[in-house]
Amino acid sequence: MRVYCAADYNHASRVAANIISAQVIMKPDCVLGLATGSTPIGTYEELIRRYEQGDLDFSGVHSINLDEYRGLSPENDQSYRYFMNTHLFDSINIDKKNTYVPDGLEPDSEKACRDYEEIIRTHGGVDLQILGLGHNGHIGFNEPGSTFEKETHCVTLSETTREANARFFSSMDEVPTEAYTMGIGSIMQAKKIVVIVTGEGKREIVKKAFLGPITPEVQASVLQLHNDVILVGDEAALAGFPR
Ligand code: GLP
Repeated sequence: MRVYCAADYNHASRVAANIISAQVIMKPDCVLGLATGSTPIGTYEELIRRYEQGDLDFSGVHSINLDEYRGLSPENDQSYRYFMNTHLFDSINIDKKNTYVPDGLEPDSEKACRDYEEIIRTHGGVDLQILGLGHNGHIGFNEPGSTFEKETHCVTLSETTREANARFFSSMDEVPTEAYTMGIGSIMQAKKIVVIVTGEGKREIVKKAFLGPITPEVQASVLQLHNDVILVGDEAALAGFPR
């Protein structure tokens, strides 16, 4: 694993955008694995800026997102499809037909997961996977548990995750209880992974995930077994982290 310690959030966003830009330039028809959450917003803003400057072309890029709340429609402003459209896709020249997010409205969870696995499979996997880190160590919505799930599955969100994400909803009652998420197996198959961690709130979990034992209790710890991970953090998150 390589660790890049940026000065602050904006710097970390530029570094992550540099890595994604390099991927898109080197392989214009690449498959990007994309994440939501507040952490990658700055990265996406950087990508938009570079696109507007004429430095990036997303016309050949395909994207596969990590997860989606079960029960939320693409038009719901808390859905991850809505997030991706408003924070990135609407502002770059990616073809929306080539962007994938699990179907939150598919009531048959087995079908939703099977369909998503098929999408991942037909794309030949992800070239570059962007990840944020949940406060409990989740990646995507792979919650702490007793196993590492291989494929896309339906999860019951932990109370800590619902509480952490409640800030985006008008009340706790509106926070969905379930989500569809890409499995750890699919995430681990990405050729390259960039994990972005910023802010003091992630300091403890980043240490647990990358320096602690590999355990499904801290799902991100499995990333220690991947051979091409870049951890992009800022001083606040990486204080005390060996570099
Ligand atoms: C959500 C997403 C994760 C994300 C996490 C961290 O739960 N499912 O993919 O990494 O939030 O969010 P934030 O970046 O806001 O801390």
